[in-house]
Amino acid sequence: MKGIFITFEGIDGCGKTTQAELLEIQLKQERRNIVLVREPGGTVISEQIRSIILDKNHNEMDPITETILLAASRAQLTEEIIIPNVESGNIVISDRYTDSTLAYQGFGRGLDITWLKNINKFATKDTDPDITILVDIPVEVAISRMEGKSFDRMEIEGNEFLKRVRKGYLHLAQDYSDRFIVVDGMKSIHEIQTQIWKSISKVITSNWIID
Ligand code: ADP
Ligand code: TYD
Repeated sequence: MKGIFITFEGIDGCGKTTQAELLEIQLKQERRNIVLVREPGGTVISEQIRSIILDKNHNEMDPITETILLAASRAQLTEEIIIPNVESGNIVISDRYTDSTLAYQGFGRGLDITWLKNINKFATKDTDPDITILVDIPVEVAISRMEGKSFDRMEIEGNEFLKRVRKGYLHLAQDYSDRFIVVDGMKSIHEIQTQIWKSISKVITSNWIID
């Protein structure tokens, strides 16, 4: 039986890491084999690339350099973790994946979307998520949730940048409505968790047999 590949997406501070971790716990209780990874990162090599991308001293980084580093991190994660686990029948949850590049580098930075889709395809050997949970939240709320945290190179971009990214995500959710599930990030952690579980278990039972 093929496994399932689930991704979490949304602007910084939307609450997706909280939900990805809760889903991991819940699926483990169902005795499913789960692998939770994050992007950029998730392997030794990809975590090293992550530190180059997010280092706030690298403010001269060109958006194309940024994109290619993200793709390199993703290629390694996909080949080393995602493909083998999904092929072995496991559930892989990734905190961000290809849609982050379309939203941040495409809608946020203004790079060409078709070009970004091609680099995503190349880096992932055409691996698409089965389900993508978009945690949608207004930018101001997300920023207020990050108060007190030291900001990385992406997080210092500010409100207008994140507004374009949020809008981009909502576009992607329409374009790929077959795999996107949009949840309201303003609800409580527990309410969101319940909504995600309802949607996920529906998709899982209609496509895969749960033992
Ligand atoms: P992200 O991974 O999207 O950056 P996190 O899951 O790390 O977001 O959450 C950012 C902060 O917001 C954390 O302090 C977390 O506890 C809090 N948080 C997450 N979800 C909610 C929610 N639904 N309501 C209020 N606060 C939340
Ligand atoms: P991280 O701390 O993991 O995200 P979050 O703050 O949402 O928990 O930081 C990852 C940052 O990298 C985040 O600001 C989004 C950005 N990013 C891109 O710009 N493009 C991408 O393709 C990916 C995967 C991440």
